[in-house]
Amino acid sequence: MSRPAIDLFQNAFGTIPRSAASAPGRVNLIGEHTDYNGGPVLPIAIAERTTAVVGPGPADAPGTLEAVSTRYNAVARVRWQEELPPGWPAYVAGVLRELWTLEAIPPRGSLRIAVASDVPIGAGLSSSAALSVATAKAIATFVGAKLTPRQIAGVAFRAEHDHVGVRCGVMDQTIASLGKSGHALLLECASLEARQIPFAARLLLVDTGVKHDLSAGSLNERRAECEEVVKRLKLELPDLVWLASWPVEWLPRLKRALPEPLRSRAVHVVSETARARFAAQLLAGKKLTQFGRLLYESHESCRRLYECSAPELDTVVAAAKRAGALGARLTGAGWGGAAIVLVKERGAGSAERVAEAIRAAFREAYGREPEIRPVKSSAGVRTERV
Ligand code: GLA
Repeated sequence: MSRPAIDLFQNAFGTIPRSAASAPGRVNLIGEHTDYNGGPVLPIAIAERTTAVVGPGPADAPGTLEAVSTRYNAVARVRWQEELPPGWPAYVAGVLRELWTLEAIPPRGSLRIAVASDVPIGAGLSSSAALSVATAKAIATFVGAKLTPRQIAGVAFRAEHDHVGVRCGVMDQTIASLGKSGHALLLECASLEARQIPFAARLLLVDTGVKHDLSAGSLNERRAECEEVVKRLKLELPDLVWLASWPVEWLPRLKRALPEPLRSRAVHVVSETARARFAAQLLAGKKLTQFGRLLYESHESCRRLYECSAPELDTVVAAAKRAGALGARLTGAGWGGAAIVLVKERGAGSAERVAEAIRAAFREAYGREPEIRPVKSSAGVRTERV
């Protein structure tokens, strides 16, 4: 597992690394754009992982980070306290700064890191959280800081959110840390209350190949809209902190209080919150048919109200529905990336038939085929051998 990263470390730095950790990407089953609004999410960790290996930095250059990845071969060299490097090493620098704030690493610590990953980038599978969580765990292990998986998730979240400046919620780092094989995680993002729910259904991942770079702004724009919603709804409910805690029974009142597009954004968040909680109950009761219906509803809400879909994603979901799949929806932020499809064990609506139908529809519309593969729920962060 850690071999490619170890080899890269040795080639780049001429020494051997001292600790290693890996963390997975994720797909979110339901509960989209609810995390930063204090609502529930229901993600699974996937089999694709990022591995980070770490060792001491150059002794004659205190406060230096040297970082290399199998994806970009050049070694980045930065003074991590003073500057945030461009690109992926910024996540590592962010993690270092957070660990420094916690006094887990010395103020002028130097570090070398090598990273290898098979989590696709820009596919909405949270390659960035896999990187920041694996990095946080590998560095914590190296310096002997005993952090719980929740603390690792917290360090990774603040690295991304506060330092890199992507206004993500807590979902990605939390599932990359707490993921459990064969389970989905129901996470209430306001309280961080977490519950593992057995998940063994057949799921396909369809990568549309349409890249979406999160820092590009769409997510930040939606967050700003949600903040504006809360500001206005405080006139109705002065104590309101999280948009997701607006009662779903009060949707008519919410609609009256808000102009478009704020109204649509808010209706999505409040109804998606109710949907995700209900979906988790259905999943726990193994009611997959009803669960699947909620996936379709969630996609429709993302498409129409939150406007975070893309034509390619809509093509996939419509084709899956026509072919008899139990449910389908975009996963992650949207605006491109991947969709998930819940399929039946056999017959109409089975993996083979649905995949064929999606390929055909996609070929017809775009003259190419999307990548389709089965997804299994996997384990969260772990240390690896060096
Ligand atoms: C991105 C963010 C997550 C979450 C999703 C939308 O993936 O990183 O925190 O907000 O979008 O549900």
